[in-house]
Amino acid sequence: MEIFDTHAHLCDERYNEDIDEVIARAQDAGVRRILLASAEMSDSEAAIRMAKSRNGQVELFCSVGVHPHSASDYNDRSHELLASWISDRVKKRIVAMGEIGLDYHYDFSPRDVQRAVFIRQLELACREDIPVIIHEREASSDMLSILNDFSKRGLLSKMPGVFHCYSGSAQTAQILVRMGFMLGFDGPVTFRNNKKVWEVLSSVPTDRILIETDCPYLTPEPFRGKRNEPAYITFVLSAIADYLGKTGEEMARITTENACRLFRL
Ligand code: NI
Repeated sequence: MEIFDTHAHLCDERYNEDIDEVIARAQDAGVRRILLASAEMSDSEAAIRMAKSRNGQVELFCSVGVHPHSASDYNDRSHELLASWISDRVKKRIVAMGEIGLDYHYDFSPRDVQRAVFIRQLELACREDIPVIIHEREASSDMLSILNDFSKRGLLSKMPGVFHCYSGSAQTAQILVRMGFMLGFDGPVTFRNNKKVWEVLSSVPTDRILIETDCPYLTPEPFRGKRNEPAYITFVLSAIADYLGKTGEEMARITTENACRLFRL
């Protein structure tokens, strides 16, 4: 097995005590690559450090960017720092910008600020030609209108990025797929009665599916309620494989190829 966990927050303090064991268990489960996703400037910096220093049998990569929850903290200094990291991305093991996006469920930052900060980071990503990891919750209409605008201006690349933990409709998924996006799936695919996600999965071409844990969040069954970790991605993988009538091995190969294509590895 060669599994790629494309979204893990291993710099979270919940791993401070046992990060070595967490990575070792991931390796035992067949995980070969992990993308450390970031949500703030401070954890972007921590992710770069971890990706460089702990890169071993399990290859670590990272993304940098500011989540819509923290959009209010974004300033010129953050922007310059992000730009400088990205221009040095190979050495820093940065393969994407994110999580960036819009979250109208929690509204931790005002919506106009969220939009402005998302647009600013997306412009930087387009200019630097680096894929984005998008977080979008209850904001699909504003999200689509921003992306359409970028697309009309010819700024979006053929494979602009991934909608991480995709929770939207099958209809929106079709639009995103046409724009070139991939969709990321995690723990909720293992929950019973998650009809919506199956509707999406059966409408999306398999070459657009990524798997992720979003750990320490979104723990799959049978560990729901406990801390999540990359080793548990096997539950996500087998739920999707079963549904699509493939073996876990096949599904691992497909999703890893998709991730390597998107992140250019
Ligand atoms: Ni996340």
